[in-house]
Amino acid sequence: MDKELIINKTEAYVRNELEGEPSGHDWWHIHRVTEVTKRIANKEKGDLFLCTMAALLHDIADEKLNESEEAGLEKVREWLISQEVDEASMEIILEIISTISFKGGHGPTLTRLEAKIVQDADRLDAIGAIGIARCFVYSGAKGRPMYDPNDAPREQMTKEEYRSNTGAAINHFYEKLLKLKELMNTKTGKEMAQARHEYMAGFLEQFYAEWDGKK
Ligand code: ADP
Ligand code: NI
Repeated sequence: MDKELIINKTEAYVRNELEGEPSGHDWWHIHRVTEVTKRIANKEKGDLFLCTMAALLHDIADEKLNESEEAGLEKVREWLISQEVDEASMEIILEIISTISFKGGHGPTLTRLEAKIVQDADRLDAIGAIGIARCFVYSGAKGRPMYDPNDAPREQMTKEEYRSNTGAAINHFYEKLLKLKELMNTKTGKEMAQARHEYMAGFLEQFYAEWDGKK
């Protein structure tokens, strides 16, 4: 099994599949997640081939882009078979991909180091400067406002209020982005998340100050 060749071909395959993908899972998201995955894998001594392959393929199986999660995983399996990836590696890559998605924070507890690494890398791409940018791009694409000062943080809303909520971009920070730091698996992931988290907290502080004309 020529691992380098398989990685290169997988990269080209994913790039072709996800180029210009509009739901926040475009090729450049995959590229960033793969780069961060490699960095964490090196530091945490995870298997580089398994981590890189899972990072490259992690959104190909996303249920938003397929009829179902099963159909998505089947697509990944077919690709891995076509690349003659050995059976054991294939099962691990599929296991990583199927276990890492966020699922509102209620996903399974990960036991495999390589799954922890790729999940950390995927979550890191939702925070920091890139995370802020992705959040506003996503909201804009949905036609939502960036901020509504009449919104209470969602945790404090009643069900009624939650339903009628405008879903302004800033709410997403409280729903998800500011929580991700605590959900990191690896030491390296935690360190990277800390810096990105502080950057977001600083951004929010500046945002509110500017909103109120105080800065
Ligand atoms: P994942 O890559 O974990 O599957 P999602 O599909 O939930 O992520 O989101 C893709 C990107 O869009 C992320 O950067 C995420 O923070 C952002 N996003 C998701 N939901 C919202 C929302 N309601 N408001 C603003 N941004 C969002
Ligand atoms: Ni992703």
